[in-house]
Amino acid sequence: MNIFITGGAGYIGSHTCVELLNAGHQVAVFDNFCDSDPEALARVERISGVRPRLYQGDVRDLDVLTHALRDSAATAVIHFAGLKAVGDSVLHPLNYYDNNVLGTLCLLRAMGHCDVKQLVFSSSATVYGDPIELPIPEKHALSANNPYGQTKLVIEKMLRDLYSSDTSWRISILRYFNPVGAHSSGLIGEDPKGTPNNLMPFVAQVAVGRREYLNVWGNDYATPDGTGVRDYIHVVDLALGHVKALERLQSRTECEAFNLGTGIGYSVLDIVRAFEAACGKELPYRIAPRRSGDIAVYYADPSKAKKWLNWEAQRDLKTMCEDSWRWQSTNPLGYG
Ligand code: NAD
Ligand code: UFG
Repeated sequence: MNIFITGGAGYIGSHTCVELLNAGHQVAVFDNFCDSDPEALARVERISGVRPRLYQGDVRDLDVLTHALRDSAATAVIHFAGLKAVGDSVLHPLNYYDNNVLGTLCLLRAMGHCDVKQLVFSSSATVYGDPIELPIPEKHALSANNPYGQTKLVIEKMLRDLYSSDTSWRISILRYFNPVGAHSSGLIGEDPKGTPNNLMPFVAQVAVGRREYLNVWGNDYATPDGTGVRDYIHVVDLALGHVKALERLQSRTECEAFNLGTGIGYSVLDIVRAFEAACGKELPYRIAPRRSGDIAVYYADPSKAKKWLNWEAQRDLKTMCEDSWRWQSTNPLGYG
């Protein structure tokens, strides 16, 4: 298959390029590099032996996007391009509506113009808001606590409305839990700009000496050790979920949402201990007040993806930490 990947130079996109190429597909990447580095695609080539074809542009530029999609001769799209920092979305909400919602609207129009009607979309577990049921099934009520989450909700609704209006579309909405880890080669990984917001890259930067200590945001939650519990999923497992989602769309017209998680919850202190074992060092941390907007516990019910996509996460927490450490220790400054 020939697949067009928006945001393909980013963290999840680059790992997905590798797994698609490994599965024998052709990929074309469309990215404006606002949150990534072209070096990631050179690394994809080192791993897979194939350099993805690159179109540099912004998904909100309809003409450029339509031209690239047509030129690529792709039959399916995976849409990663977007902004993802929750805190930043509270400070700059319009940037998020503009990039994420308008960007997706332009993409759907471009796909319509080119008669490409297969789409895999990156959604997030954030669409479940504060969960009222654990593990969280796809039928859980949807809500959002911040503008970033709102953009994912609006886009999901837009996709369902589009499918209702034209049932020849084939749409898979993938709701990621907490992606972590890196490719086992250590060549590609997460490379956040500035101070990382997320736990695993922050811990990795403490381990490599770029940060003095980790702030643990709260130890008074109703969890076994008082710290927040999440469903961490290895980015390679996540990437493989996209390959499975595309395979399913070959035989179905539908618009369906799937959780991509492991179904297992780990606390912040579980992560610190697992990372210490992976890097062979003690990692300094301090207990700090709760981070505003944080939820105590969430983890996925991944059974729908297992049943319908024939997909299940395979990599455990030890592998997530070892792979993350290999990437961070061999690329202490990321791609830069
Ligand atoms: P990332 O920032 O590493 O990758 C996003 C890519 O999109 C980058 O290469 C960036 O340059 C590109 N991009 C952004 N806006 C663009 C635009 N207007 N035009 C063209 N390219 C643009 O992020 P990621 O972690 O790989 O996330 C990919 C997707 O998955 C995002 O939609 C994100 O919201 C979603 N998601 C991520 C997480 C996570 O924790 N990483 C969790 C849930 C959902
Ligand atoms: N945490 C710390 N210290 C840090 C960073 C995080 O203690 O420096 C804690 C948080 O309080 C939370 C846990 O580590 O308990 C995980 O936090 P992350 O920031 O790594 O992840 P979140 O679950 O808060 O959010 C992530 C993404 C969102 C996405 C959500 C669901 O950042 O974009 O997962 O997919 F919506």
